[in-house]
Amino acid sequence: MGRETWRTRVGFILAAVGSAVGLGNIWRFPFQVGQEGGAAFMVMYLAFVLLIGFPAMLAEFVVGRRTELNAVGAVREFAGGAWTYLGGLFVVIGFVILSYYSVVSGWVLLYVAGSVTGAYVGDAAQGEPPVAAQFFVEIASGWDALFFHAIFMLIVVGIVMLGIQRGIEIGVKVMVPAIFVIFGVLSVYAFSLSGAGEAYAYYLSPNLGYIMANWQSLVPAAAGQGFFTLSLGMGVMITYASYLGSDENLAIDGTSIVVLNTSVSVLTGLIVFPILFTAGLDPETSGAGALFISVAAALGSLPFGRVAGVLFFTTVAIAALSSAISLIEVVVSYTIDEYGITRRKATATIGLGVFLLGAPVTIDTVFVDLYDMLAAQILLVLGGILLMVVITWFHADEAVEELGKGIGDLGVAGSLWIWMVRIPVVVVLLVSLYLGVTGYLEFLQGPFSEFLASI
Ligand code: PHE
Repeated sequence: MGRETWRTRVGFILAAVGSAVGLGNIWRFPFQVGQEGGAAFMVMYLAFVLLIGFPAMLAEFVVGRRTELNAVGAVREFAGGAWTYLGGLFVVIGFVILSYYSVVSGWVLLYVAGSVTGAYVGDAAQGEPPVAAQFFVEIASGWDALFFHAIFMLIVVGIVMLGIQRGIEIGVKVMVPAIFVIFGVLSVYAFSLSGAGEAYAYYLSPNLGYIMANWQSLVPAAAGQGFFTLSLGMGVMITYASYLGSDENLAIDGTSIVVLNTSVSVLTGLIVFPILFTAGLDPETSGAGALFISVAAALGSLPFGRVAGVLFFTTVAIAALSSAISLIEVVVSYTIDEYGITRRKATATIGLGVFLLGAPVTIDTVFVDLYDMLAAQILLVLGGILLMVVITWFHADEAVEELGKGIGDLGVAGSLWIWMVRIPVVVVLLVSLYLGVTGYLEFLQGPFSEFLASI
């Protein structure tokens, strides 16, 4: 079967950036920072992206470009045997992540609508935090959330049914510059607020003592966020690299993707935290609402706040859409290639399955944690470990040879990359996985049982 290729190298980078930049940076990142003590998390996250995320991304690229297959087929062809089950894990992860990702994306759509109507601005006190916070509580669970979850999935399914690549490229070409412009303006606004100083101290100046005391929750959180935000551990980057026709320099591509993606996260924090501190809201208790409440509160008090709100949330929606497309595409391309059913049929069925799986998340925001911790801190990390082991322990020579195409002789850098992933990366990920599982069990016995007991 002839495969399409990206028309240009930029097309590949844009698609990968489109997958990477999404709710992971804009919604999940500030939420995690708030949950894990501010700058301590920030430092760990940056370290994970650089030392683990980047080498892991190169590994996924190599497998995709070499096999030119969907993620599941790629793993089978590259490694064979029992490794084929790893492909099954990718498919499961895609389902789980997209199911709640779509619910949160539905919130984003509700905020686009809320910006048009001014619903979160409030009449008397323009944009006071209580109004913005109240709006979040109203829309985050219940019928609105369910309905907009359905709408978001319909949009995703519609686009993917028609075939992916061109649409993504165009969307991302608009989205990336838009994010930098809109977020840049908002971060300057946030800088002017009275709580900015306190926020920067909280967000940017790490306390070593805190890290030492809390590494057991920081490590799995940073690993999960690193994988989540870079779309690693479930075959997205394998799939996208499989469309690469040419032998280009994967290290340069990977660097561009990581730098762009990380900048979006950092910028988001520079907006969210000054606003939260100025409004007297605690980042820790803001939880899943941190982004929504803070930005809504800020926009309510700005001139042209509603217009800015529509622009802001529409941009976030496009970012979420391009990530969601990459998630469903892993499952769709696998189903088409393996079972030979049509793209339309595959996409519609999978979309319906994802919708049903996500529906419980609209009951209460505790389900967001239930799905999200499982996906990011356990499943993605597990997928990542298995991928890294199969690539660098069992197929190192092919991996180095493939990476060398487009770069030239790698020399020691090749062995350095392999050894870096073989031992330190895998060990850190194993520790993260263990801590992630124990943390999840605590969550199930604690907050989640409390929720169940309360209904
Ligand atoms: N990276 C995406 C985001 O940050 C989410 C994602 C995770 C996409 C895993 C694909 C695979 O929003």
